[in-house]
Amino acid sequence: MNFELSEEHLAVKEAARSFAESELLPGVIERDTKQEFPKEQVKQMGELGFLGMMVDPKYDGGGMDTISYVLAMEEISKIDASASVIMSVNNSLVCGGLEKYGTEEQKKKYLSPLARGEIIGAFCLSEPEAGSDATSQKTLAEDKGEYYLLNGTKNWITNGDSASVYLVMAQTDPDKMHHGINALIVEKKMDGFVVGKKEDKLGIRGSDTHSLMFNDVKVPKENRIGKNGFGFNFAMDTLNGGRIGIAAQALGIASGAYERALNYAKERKTFGVAISQHQVIQFKLADMATQIDAARLLCLKAASMKDQKKDYSQTSAMAKLFASQVAMDVTIEAVQIHGGYGYVKEYHVERLMRDAKITQIYEGTSEIQKIVISRELLKL
Ligand code: CAA
Repeated sequence: MNFELSEEHLAVKEAARSFAESELLPGVIERDTKQEFPKEQVKQMGELGFLGMMVDPKYDGGGMDTISYVLAMEEISKIDASASVIMSVNNSLVCGGLEKYGTEEQKKKYLSPLARGEIIGAFCLSEPEAGSDATSQKTLAEDKGEYYLLNGTKNWITNGDSASVYLVMAQTDPDKMHHGINALIVEKKMDGFVVGKKEDKLGIRGSDTHSLMFNDVKVPKENRIGKNGFGFNFAMDTLNGGRIGIAAQALGIASGAYERALNYAKERKTFGVAISQHQVIQFKLADMATQIDAARLLCLKAASMKDQKKDYSQTSAMAKLFASQVAMDVTIEAVQIHGGYGYVKEYHVERLMRDAKITQIYEGTSEIQKIVISRELLKL
């Protein structure tokens, strides 16, 4: 077992860190306050190859491994978790799903521009009444021969307005329960597609989260991913990969807050010495660093298993479960170490604390991760 990163991995990490510090950091507080989508920065991320990192170069992707993706996600999330969720959804859920299950035509038409970052995508599973209980899809995709007639509402969709391409799960044959669900590629420009209200969120406020409405949208049959009724299995398998991205996002939020707390503790003086000289602060920093290292190891293990084409569903759920808890714990401590300064925007840690919470909710709540893990353990 070798815990050293290769030269290539270090180069990816450094490129992501440098991009995040020079391009994302300057406006991150303002974008959070105004709920402003990082349009220019996402364009740059595309140009730098951060939006299709793992896609085969024959479809214009970076051809990198999942470890590189985790490293880049951590660095970008340290600075701007809104930018990193946009990146994660595009890489893992949209490009990842299309590359693994799309037809050659679908890959040429949709995957390549997504991997080049010319357009971005969204993954539409959640509904007003189907969040954790994802099999209860109410959105209907009626089979009309040449096309599916799509009707329904999706909720909490990341990249809801900024995307051009949406992977939409919808029920075609309710009698078959989850085996009646299809995954369809829907374009924003299709008639009957309506972007609903933008959510006013606690955290990741720079990303645009919307509800979406489909009113008699005609989706051509060739836009179905996989065979008839494969949509739910498609969503579950794709989410396994997505959870590595969100685990890495949580890791980055935690390590970003930790680095700020460490620097602050060395500079801030109380009772005549830097607060880092007080054992109470030293113990906090020791706990934070240990939790972060453990989370990083789980993220890298899940990534490595995916790269080796092993079954990684349990490990990606563990990585997400653990890293998201670490993100909460560490950001709360980072605010505490900063004292009153931690409670104001200028010091960044209050934002990271708000951003941390969503990592315990999206792509499956912590409770869902425990279901995934325990089912594997018990072979249920
Ligand atoms: N990997 C692969 N397949 C899986 C799977 C996994 N982790 N979990 C379930 N499946 C498969 C099962 O093998 C089964 O397949 P077959 O019937 O073909 O054999 C099928 O899915 C149904 O499984 P279950 O009977 O176990 O289904 P369930 O209803 O009891 O529970 C669940 C499934 C794990 C709770 C699932 O509903 C789930 O993961 N829910 C959470 C949904 C979620 O993560 N939503 C996130 C939305 S996307 C998002 O947040 C993106 C964003 O914008 C940031």
